[in-house]
Amino acid sequence: MPDDAPHSFDIVILGAGSGGYACALRAVQLGKTVALIEKAKVGGTCLHQGCIPTKALLHAAEVATTAREGASIGVNTTFDSVDMVKVNSYKQGVIDRLYKGLTGLVNQDGITVVEGDGSVVDPRTVEVNGQRYTGKNLVLATGSEPRTLGIEIGGRVMTSDQALALDEVPKRAVIIGGSVIGVEFASVWNSFGAEVTIIEALPSLVPLEDPVLSKGLERAFRKRKIAFKTGVKFTGVEQNANGATVTLENGDTIETDVVLVAVGRGPRSAGLGFEGAGVNVDRGWVPTDERLRTNIDGVFAVGDLVPGLQLAHRGFAHGIFVAEQIAGLNPAPVVDSSIPRVTYCEPEIASVGLTEAQAKEQYGEVEALEYNLGGNGKSQILQTAGVVKVVRQKDGPIVGVHMLGARMGEQIGEAMLWVGWEAYPEDVAQFIHAHPTQNESLGEAALALAGKPLHTHA
Ligand code: NAI
Repeated sequence: MPDDAPHSFDIVILGAGSGGYACALRAVQLGKTVALIEKAKVGGTCLHQGCIPTKALLHAAEVATTAREGASIGVNTTFDSVDMVKVNSYKQGVIDRLYKGLTGLVNQDGITVVEGDGSVVDPRTVEVNGQRYTGKNLVLATGSEPRTLGIEIGGRVMTSDQALALDEVPKRAVIIGGSVIGVEFASVWNSFGAEVTIIEALPSLVPLEDPVLSKGLERAFRKRKIAFKTGVKFTGVEQNANGATVTLENGDTIETDVVLVAVGRGPRSAGLGFEGAGVNVDRGWVPTDERLRTNIDGVFAVGDLVPGLQLAHRGFAHGIFVAEQIAGLNPAPVVDSSIPRVTYCEPEIASVGLTEAQAKEQYGEVEALEYNLGGNGKSQILQTAGVVKVVRQKDGPIVGVHMLGARMGEQIGEAMLWVGWEAYPEDVAQFIHAHPTQNESLGEAALALAGKPLHTHA
C-alpha cells in the first residue's frame, strides 16, 4: 500500500476555527472525508481567545455593575471587589464545556483531526508533523491575529490575547483603538473599577457604525466615566517597572498601568506556503470570488483570512458554503451586508445592513426612523437609554437596522431577518410584538415607518 494512501481525503482543511470546523462538520454530513489540521485547539480564536472568553468577562462586568447600582432601585447591595482568579476560572469553565462538546462533534467518522503546525506544499497538499495530507480540495482557514502597528507587546503592553489572561484588574488602562475590541474591554475594566482612557484615531468611537450609535455610545461612556480621546493617534508607548506612558500625536501623554493595543486584526498567512503553492495573497489576505474560490482551482478560503467582516458567524457561514459548494449543492453566496454585527459593550450595539449614509449612496432616496427606547417599557425597567434606527429605501424594503441599549444585542435576530428578507415595514408592522419586551421597540419602529406610530409621534 502506498505510504500516502491513509492521508488522502476529499477535503483538507488548514485551521479548525469557526470557518474550518464548520466546513468539516457540513462536509461530513454530505458524505465527504475530511482532514482537519489545527496547530492549537479546535475552536480557534472565537472559542479560546475571542468571542466566548470576552463575553464571559462582559457578563461578570454586568454583575459587578448590578451589585454597585442595586441601591438605586432600592435593593441594597454593595460592591466589594473583583477576584480575577475566580472570574478567570468561571470564564475557563465556559470555554472547557464548549470545547468538550466541540471535540466530541469533530471526532466523528469521516473527520480526521490532525494536531500540528501545517503548511501548504502544493494546491492539494498540506504537510504537518512530517506527513503529507492530500485532498481533492483544499480549504484555507487560518484566521487572523492581533495587529500591533509595530508596538512591542510584552509586560504592561498587550493585545486582547494577554488582556484576557490578566489575573488582576489594572488600576489604570489606556486602550489604543476605539472600535469593537476597544469598547468591549473599556466596558469590562470600567465595571471592574479601573480608570480607562480610549484613544481612537478616527473622529468617533465605533467609527464604522451609524453615527446615531457612535454618539449614543459616547454619551453612555461619558456617563460611565470612561474617558476617550477621538481624532488623535498615539505615537509611542514606553514602560518601566512602575507604569507605562502613552504619547499622542498632539503631544499629550497619559500615565497608565496597562496598555491594550486594539487596532484591528490581520490575516494569519505568513510562512504557511500559500504563495509558494501559487495562491494569490494580498497583504496577507487571501482574496476570493463570491463563491470563496481562490485563483487556484480547488483551493478555497474562508473566515477572517478573506477580506471583509471578521466575525465568527461569517466564518461558520463561509465554512458551510464551501462544503456545500464542493458537494455540488450550489448554495447561495454569503453576502457581508446581511451579516449581523453585535458589540457587547454596555450599552450594547447591534446592527445589520447599511447605515443611513451608505443607503443614500447606494439607493439615492431613503427614509430613516429613530425610535427612542425612552418609550419602551422594558428598557425603562432596565434603566437603559438607547435607540432603534431603521433605514428603508424610499417606499421600499428595510436595508439597515441599528440598535443601542442594554441587552439590545439579543434583538438582532429579527433585524437580520428584515434585512435578509428585504422586508417592508408595512409587512412587518402587522406582526405582534410581545409586551413588555425590548423586542417591542422593533415593532414600534416598523409601525412608525409604516405611517401608524403607537408610542411615538408621527
Ligand atoms: P477594528 O479594525 O474594528 O478597529 C481598530 C480601531 O483602531 C479603528 O477604529 C482604528 O481607527 C483605530 N486605530 C488604528 N490605528 C490607530 C492609532 N494609531 N491610534 C488610535 N487608533 C487607531 O479592530 P478591533 O476593535 O481591534 O477588532 C478586530 C476585529 O475583531 C474586528 O473586525 C472586530 O469586528 C472583531 N471583533 C468582533 C467582536 C464582536 O463581534 N463582538 C468582538 C471583538 C472583535
